[in-house]
Amino acid sequence: MSYWIDSHAHMTEECYQEEFDVYMQRALDANVKKTLVICLNFEELERAFVLKAQYPFLDIAVGFYPGDVPKFSEEDWKRLEEVAKDERVIAIGEIGLDYYWDKSFVELQKECFIRQIELANKVQKPILIHSRDAAQDTYDILAAYKAEYGALLHCYSGSVEMAKRFEKLGLYFSFAGPLTFKNSKESKEVVKALPLNRLFVETDCPYLTPVPHRGKQNETAYVHYTGEYLAELKELDVETVQQQMIKNYKNLFKVKDM
Ligand code: NI
Repeated sequence: MSYWIDSHAHMTEECYQEEFDVYMQRALDANVKKTLVICLNFEELERAFVLKAQYPFLDIAVGFYPGDVPKFSEEDWKRLEEVAKDERVIAIGEIGLDYYWDKSFVELQKECFIRQIELANKVQKPILIHSRDAAQDTYDILAAYKAEYGALLHCYSGSVEMAKRFEKLGLYFSFAGPLTFKNSKESKEVVKALPLNRLFVETDCPYLTPVPHRGKQNETAYVHYTGEYLAELKELDVETVQQQMIKNYKNLFKVKDM
């Protein structure tokens, strides 16, 4: 069986809740049969558990987003350690560094990134990395504090050279809607330069909507546009790309029933 996987979606966002079944049906109709739901806090996680009970093809990740780290208490950290062990949680993320929005707590971001890498290693799960305007620091931390159960760099938008360095660390890469934009020349070069066995596609919905729906609200069904675009860039047929991404997903997340 061949299908698309959305490796990064914020399906607990308010905009989806009222008509959740409609979004799920549209995903299935678009042959998207696995979606990794990213939870940034415990409210989102509780919601994701409810959604997964109804739609088992949803997978779940949880972690403290770099821009949010100042608001979490030691109690929250203890709770994160507990939920990280839950078998429905398959990865820790999105975690990392974001110097684009606010550079006032860079040291705290680094500290929390490292702490969550160590947590992931302890619970034997991979990490999902958010890195924006912070490629070098992200690299330095990952080189010094190895994610022993694997790592996926989400929404990669850096250079080919940097991608090659991350590849040597064993990382996987995921590309979102901007890959389909005319002006994203560098990302297209990165996709061509990396082997297919390190690649994923994602929506990061409700943001980063691919062409032809650019500018409108994104949803997990739309991952097929980015996947088809990636297949074209790699000069491969869609099924080959889907099959390899299913393998990549199994390799990284150790998910069996798919
Ligand atoms: Ni995200």
